Amino acid sequence: MAETLTIRRPDDWHLHLRDGAVLKAVLPETARHFARAIIMPNLVPPVVTGAQAAAYRQRILGALPMGLDFEPLMTLYLTEDTDPKDVKAAAEVGIVTAVKLYPAGATTNSASGVRDFDKVRSVLETMAQIGLPLCVHGEVTDPEVDIFDREAAFIDRILDPIRRATPGLRVVMEHITTHDGIDYVKSQGDDMGGTITAHHLVINRNHILVGGIKPHYYCLPVAKREEHRQALVAAATSGDAHFFLGTDSAPHVDALKEHPCGCAGCFTATNTLSVLAEVFERQDALDRLEAFTSLHGPAFYGLPPNADTITLARGTPVAYPAKIDTDDGPVTIFDPGFPLHWRVTP
Ligand code: NCD
Ligand code: ZN
Repeated sequence: MAETLTIRRPDDWHLHLRDGAVLKAVLPETARHFARAIIMPNLVPPVVTGAQAAAYRQRILGALPMGLDFEPLMTLYLTEDTDPKDVKAAAEVGIVTAVKLYPAGATTNSASGVRDFDKVRSVLETMAQIGLPLCVHGEVTDPEVDIFDREAAFIDRILDPIRRATPGLRVVMEHITTHDGIDYVKSQGDDMGGTITAHHLVINRNHILVGGIKPHYYCLPVAKREEHRQALVAAATSGDAHFFLGTDSAPHVDALKEHPCGCAGCFTATNTLSVLAEVFERQDALDRLEAFTSLHGPAFYGLPPNADTITLARGTPVAYPAKIDTDDGPVTIFDPGFPLHWRVTP
């Protein structure tokens, strides 16, 4: 068994960095390992315009510790009032790399998201023309639909109609949690991608609910049955270029996770690469880890892979801290529930 693994430096194609004290604390956890990340715009208020994205980018770069090299790839939060001209201008100057679609009410800070999809048609058409990808949170918000069925329902009701109505639009189905999502993405051409998180490769819904409720395993889309987790592992480790890493690392302070109405989100930035190496090793697919973390994502976004590399080494289990501290309070690091033998070497 190989004791070290050297791969192109990874990127994270779906990341929540927040702002202020939490941004300052979580940014180094990502920048230590990842060269670039797609930064989610669901701040309060959301990052809607090109000017807001440029200002947020400056705050991120301002919070980056000396000596760490990291490029935030900014996104705009799509609303029913988004101006196609602003999107086009922001894309042309390179301030934004994608636009994010949240169905209104689907997840944390999504109240300004889209209710009537006809209202965003002209933005989507502009994006198709200029090749700007749309990242979608793929869950319907219809209260009649069971939370475990919301991703599958989104494909039929919203995603596939958008795909058919907007030929050429590059779309990423983010944080896929079902075999329905995997099958749909696989059935599409190379203008469709799908991101998969580390935590959804590890937990199923039993981890959240059996033996007491585990708020730190609660995220959206919520983890599904074991058969779905297995479909995600098969896709991530398959070498299929549709699929790439988007951690959806989503920090919330413990006081808001361990709460009668706990926030959704798993904070995985710190140990994602150790978790992934363990998952890929178990599938005898370590030779495909680099494609998932470092090659398929840049190819989808039309960017070069990173020139530098990182090396993972296998050894005695890594002792990650349980939490990181922020000036707003502690944030718990995702606990995969098994020992992590792979570490990123300094
Ligand atoms: C994310 C957050 O906290 O911003 N939460 C989550 O459970 N993933 C929002 C999101 O991506 O759905
Ligand atoms: Zn997210």
